[in-house]
Amino acid sequence: MARLEAILKRFREIYPGSAAPRAWRAPGRVNLIGEHTDYNLGLVMPMAIQLECVVTAAPSSSGLLRVYSEELASSAEWPVANIGELRRRGDWSDRVAGVAWELSRRGATIAAQDLLISSTVPLGGGLSSSAALGVAVMLALGGPRDPLELAQLARAAETGFVGVPVGIMDQFVAARGRAGAAILLDCGSLEFREVRLPEGIAIVAANSMVRHELGGSAYRRRVEECAEAARVLGVKCLREAAASRLSELAGAPLLRARHVITENARVEEFAAAAERGDVEKMGITLIESHRSLRDDYQVSCAELDFLVETALSVPGVLGARMTGGGFGGSTVNLLRKEAVPALESALLEKYPEKFGWRPEIHVCIASDGASQLL
Ligand code: GLA
Repeated sequence: MARLEAILKRFREIYPGSAAPRAWRAPGRVNLIGEHTDYNLGLVMPMAIQLECVVTAAPSSSGLLRVYSEELASSAEWPVANIGELRRRGDWSDRVAGVAWELSRRGATIAAQDLLISSTVPLGGGLSSSAALGVAVMLALGGPRDPLELAQLARAAETGFVGVPVGIMDQFVAARGRAGAAILLDCGSLEFREVRLPEGIAIVAANSMVRHELGGSAYRRRVEECAEAARVLGVKCLREAAASRLSELAGAPLLRARHVITENARVEEFAAAAERGDVEKMGITLIESHRSLRDDYQVSCAELDFLVETALSVPGVLGARMTGGGFGGSTVNLLRKEAVPALESALLEKYPEKFGWRPEIHVCIASDGASQLL
C-alpha cells in the first residue's frame, strides 16, 4: 500500500530515531438515513467509506504522549504521568487527549509514545472525521479490540472530555463497518445487521465545503429539545414516543419530536426497500428525510439545500439529503450507477456558480471498520 509507505516515511521524518511503528486505520462514514436519531436511541443506517484516518505510533522514552497531525501541520504533547488530570484545550488535540483520558479513567496506563495522524476524511465535512480519529487513536493507545466496546469508549471520550453530547452512530460504524454493506443499527438495544444495497446503484457524497459556526451549539440545543419533548410526553427517550401523541407538544419540542419519530419510521422503510431492491422507494425516503431535517429539525442550510435540489434535477438520481449533523458538511445521493458522471458535472458546474467555490465529490465504497495495518 503506497499510502502506508508514504505515511511511514513521514513518521521517520517527524520522529527520527524512533522504534519501529505500528499503524491502525478507522474509516469515515456516510449516513444513508436516520439523522439525529442516535442520541434519541433510535435507528440509523450508516455505511463506512473508503476515506480513513491512519494513526501510526511508536513507543518513546520521552515520558510524553506526542502527536502530530499531518493535515493540520500541528503538534501537541502531554506528560503521561498525569493523563488523568488533563484538561480540554479547545482544539483538535482534545480528540487525542480525550481518548487517553478515557482509557486512563478506566484504569489503563498510557505509555509514552509518538503518534502521527494522517487522514483522508475531510475535516468538518460531515463524514465523521472525528470518530475516525477517535477510534483509530483508541486502538493505537491500546483500547479494546471488540468493536462495540471500542465504539462505546471512543464515544465516551467525545462526550466526557471533548464535551459534545453525540450519539453512538459514528463511532459504531467506524469500528464495525463492513465492506459492501450499510449497517442498520438500533441505538437503543445496540442490535444491528448488515444491509447490502441493491445492484446498480451508487452512493455519492457531496461536500459543501462549509461548516457554519452554529453547528456545535445548535447540536447541543437539539439534544436538549429532544429531552424536553420526551419529558413532556413522560417517556425515557423519543424512541419510545408514538406519533399519535405529537399533539401534546408545541413549538420546538413538537418539531424536533416529529422529525425523530418520522425519521425512525423512514429508516425501517428504507432498509426494507433496500432489501427488496426497491430503489425508487429508497430515493423517496431520502427526499422526505431531507425535508424533515430542513423544516422540522432545522439543521440544514442554503448550501446543503442547493446541493440536494441540484442533484434531484439530474436524471437517474433517485434521492438526496443532507447527512451528518448538518449546518454544512455533506449531502448523500442515491443514484443509478450510470448517472454518476452527470451528477458530478451538475454539482461541479452549478454549485460554484451560486456560492463561489467547488464542492468535493466522493463516490462512496462501503468499507470495513477499523483494523490494524501494521
Ligand atoms: C453527528 C454525531 C452523531 C449523530 C449525527 C446526526 O455526526 O456525531 O452522533 O448525532 O451528528 O445524526
